[in-house]
Amino acid sequence: ARRVTLATLRGKHRRGEPISMVTAYDYSSAVHLDSAGVDVVLVGDSAAMTAHGHDNTLPISLDLMLQHCRAVVRGAARPLVVGDLPFGSYESSPAQAVESAVRLMKEGVVDAVKMEGGAASRVGAARAIVDAGIAVMGHVGLTPQTISVLGGFRAQGKTVDGALKVVEAALALQDAGCFAVVLECVPAPVAAAATAALQIPTIGVGAGPLCSGQALVYADLVGMFQSPEHSKVTPKFCKQFGDVGAAIGKALAEYKQQVEDRAFPDADHTPYKISSVDVDAFT
Ligand code: KIV
Ligand code: NA
Repeated sequence: ARRVTLATLRGKHRRGEPISMVTAYDYSSAVHLDSAGVDVVLVGDSAAMTAHGHDNTLPISLDLMLQHCRAVVRGAARPLVVGDLPFGSYESSPAQAVESAVRLMKEGVVDAVKMEGGAASRVGAARAIVDAGIAVMGHVGLTPQTISVLGGFRAQGKTVDGALKVVEAALALQDAGCFAVVLECVPAPVAAAATAALQIPTIGVGAGPLCSGQALVYADLVGMFQSPEHSKVTPKFCKQFGDVGAAIGKALAEYKQQVEDRAFPDADHTPYKISSVDVDAFT
């Protein structure tokens, strides 16, 4: 199948077709998303939580994000792959933002980058990255990298002032040249207003149904974790579309039991007859 490009997304948006985005941090999940035909794969800094077990997204480094990006790109041949600029890699100056975005493109081999925030300084950074020839996805509303000032993972845009701030930030990011904007954890009417005001697609995550597309975190979507205390993300708005954690748990319990019973490996899984052909295959 042909690769998803910005032109593909623009076409979908023009025809009113919703855009699907899911996060991935490694090769296997990227292969799953590619096979499912998901439009956009986001190598999100939520990797800090779901892949590394941190309580928030702040600790992950650009170097670690680059490793995740390279692994995802190997598995996601068709989707557009977007790499998240992690906390600390773009706030100091537009020059720092461009430098980090260039590394995500050159070393992470992604198709585009995403950055959080819609304050004037962030809009300036977005513009500088676009000027450098790199496609930028914006991200407003709940921006997890700034929980220090937001006071935690809290919905945004719940007051008239807050709602205006969300819509104005999205508009400013569009003016800066962003090709899409993530709206995270804002009331559905605020997301609807932003979507109506913008010419570029909005991607909602906890922002109701009236966005141009939707995004979810892979582990939450597939039900990777069986216990809520293990999942570092799983917000209320997440719908669990699968129960993969239960299937994994069952497979591991069976494996452990069969090892303890000496039932595994059985004859079928013991290479006691190594032919010359088999040897060739392993050397
Ligand atoms: O890092 C992430 O998973 C994200 C999505 C929630 C949009 O930024
Ligand atoms: Na993110």
